[in-house]
Amino acid sequence: MGDACRYAVVTGANKGIGFETVKQLANSGVMVVLTARNEKRGMEATSLLNKQGFSNVVFHQLDVQDARIIESLAKFIQTQYGRLDILLRLSPD
Ligand SMILES: NC(=O)c1ccc[n+]([C@@H]2O[C@H](COP(=O)([O-])OP(=O)(O)OC[C@H]3O[C@@H](n4cnc5c(N)ncnc54)[C@H](OP(=O)(O)O)[C@@H]3O)[C@@H](O)[C@H]2O)c1
Repeated sequence: MGDACRYAVVTGANKGIGFETVKQLANSGVMVVLTARNEKRGMEATSLLNKQGFSNVVFHQLDVQDARIIESLAKFIQTQYGRLDILLRLSPD
């Protein structure tokens, strides 16, 4: 998507407010990492958006209370994109 692309992480995003936020960001051209604890529901939510034409949404598992997974997500973002522009924490805790 080139250098002008912005990169976002949305937590609590396999349903509810988080899911809708991912859709809006993706529609604005932002590359979005949809995250949630439940991998199956996260993959399904991502696949639904991909099928709707939002190829700029990917899934990564995240429990905001698990430091190990947070670190793994940070490494993923660093490796894949090199930076993060937007972080939206929409999970309950
Ligand atoms: N709906 C409303 O009208 C409304 C209004 C004001 C405020 N809020 C607040 O906004 C937040 C989201 O509301 P919602 O209605 O969208 O809730 P929701 O539909 O229950 O969705 C919650 C999301 O958070 C994820 N999640 C839960 N615990 C998590 C954790 N420890 N780490 C990462 N992800 C986690 C869930 O997926 P997994 O279980 O797979 O992780 C799910 O994707 C809540 O705090 C709610 O109190 C909601």
